[in-house]
Amino acid sequence: MSRRFYITTAIDYVNGRPHLGHTYEKVAADALARYHRLLGEEVCFLTGTDEHGTKVARAAEADGMDVQAFVDRQAAAFRAAWDALDVSYDVFVRTTEDRHARAVQQVLERIRDRGDDLFEGTYEGWYCVGCEAYKPDKDLVDGRCPDHPTLDPRWVKEDNLFFRLSRFRDGLLAHLEANPGFVQPETRRNEVLAVLRGGLEDLSVSREGLGWGVPIPFRPGATVYVWFDALVNYVSGLGFADGDERFRRFWPADLHLVGKDITRFHCIIWPAMLLAAGLELPRAVYGHGWVLATGGQRESKSAGNVTDPVALAEQYGPDPVRYFLLGAIPFGKDGEFSRARLEEKYTSALANELGNLLSRTLNMAEKYRAGVPDPDGRPEPGIEDLCARATFAWREAMDRHQLDEGLQAAWNIVSTLNNLIQSREPWKVAKDPARERELSAFLYALCEGLRIAAVLLQPFVPRTARAVLERVGAPGDYAAPVAVTATWGRLVPGTAVVKGEPLFPRLPEPA
Ligand code: MSP
Repeated sequence: MSRRFYITTAIDYVNGRPHLGHTYEKVAADALARYHRLLGEEVCFLTGTDEHGTKVARAAEADGMDVQAFVDRQAAAFRAAWDALDVSYDVFVRTTEDRHARAVQQVLERIRDRGDDLFEGTYEGWYCVGCEAYKPDKDLVDGRCPDHPTLDPRWVKEDNLFFRLSRFRDGLLAHLEANPGFVQPETRRNEVLAVLRGGLEDLSVSREGLGWGVPIPFRPGATVYVWFDALVNYVSGLGFADGDERFRRFWPADLHLVGKDITRFHCIIWPAMLLAAGLELPRAVYGHGWVLATGGQRESKSAGNVTDPVALAEQYGPDPVRYFLLGAIPFGKDGEFSRARLEEKYTSALANELGNLLSRTLNMAEKYRAGVPDPDGRPEPGIEDLCARATFAWREAMDRHQLDEGLQAAWNIVSTLNNLIQSREPWKVAKDPARERELSAFLYALCEGLRIAAVLLQPFVPRTARAVLERVGAPGDYAAPVAVTATWGRLVPGTAVVKGEPLFPRLPEPA
């Protein structure tokens, strides 16, 4: 039986349209999902939308729309964006779906029935609608939430249903200590440990009155606090409420990939909810960094500096956007995005390195060997070794979730082959009939190196990888297990290459 891998992203609030920050996370999770599929694992990749809460209800009101009609429209925009970027999710979950509401209710009922972790209390304090979270005074700066400085925190006083979060502090501390990989990267783990060591307060989990949320079955007129509702998506999307086979197959999750701003919800509240409900804990949570606009501000709707991912994908193609996000930002850290930086990478890396390598290789195969670069000469152990080392480094980086390093490992093949063309000067070799076998061996090795580079590039730039595989005559290697495809010598002697249009046409000069 093959290994299983369940990966999730955060589900996005639908108060605004998808932006590059949301995109970064979905594309990163997609690269990991594709990687695990290439390892031959059975993968479930879940993403979706968070559609309840004050923030979303207010946005619908501001648009003068019925809330359900509003969230339907918004959720469709998120789905369309992920489709435009080739995000290969298996499950798209929406928190306004019936299967989700029933799952939230069941989790609450399980917690209630298993002990005294739900109790009556009174909440009094600040609430940041941007975070959809309570804010102790110590977390406010000049009376404002540092993550949402444009929004006024609201003073709330309500008799509520509480979740006894404090009870889980010691257990969670012990869990983090026994499982160093539970929170990644290390900086996030240290943050979570510091929060746990500081102690946990119980959490208000009900909203009284007619809120936009999941009704609490045993508390008429009340709805579930939006985070308590949203976190359940990771099981509701697998069909938890109906005891689906998918839930039994894939829970617990192997990886929750979320932004660093919400790592705590995933490493403290969510595991506590699961423990209280008697469900297994996820194996790991990775808190990635932020995409920043030029000048270092986080892309966000409230900051008003958002980039539309669909417009970018239409202009440059999905792969250049993916290449930039995954390759130019060290994974786990923040990174700046600008069109100028994207265009720079497009030209210097995609067009001038990969695009040129492919077209030079195919042109030479065409010119010197009528399109069939036979391996009838001596072998090319240097290039074979280069590919073996790249594959090893790629696996090692991807297993640590270091996507930028994984991409770089694959790219090393591309850069080195380009350098070899420069230094070996095959156009000179071609003039000497005594060196015919040497030229054949080199041309074959270039195609084979390109094929293996394309195999390793699939998680990052799937369309480009597919096109390269087709051009070098290995279309069947797309999406096939790497244990087979990353092996040297698969290109069958006699296979013809397929010339075509440039992969990355030159960008128009800026006006
Ligand atoms: N709805 C909650 C998540 C609930 S998960 C049970 C939420 N939504 S969000 O729309 O604000 O953010 C969704 C994801 O996008 C989060 O992981 C968040 O960190 C990420 N990003 C939002 N802006 C971002 C950047 N500018 N850069 C990178 N990721 C950021 O939080």
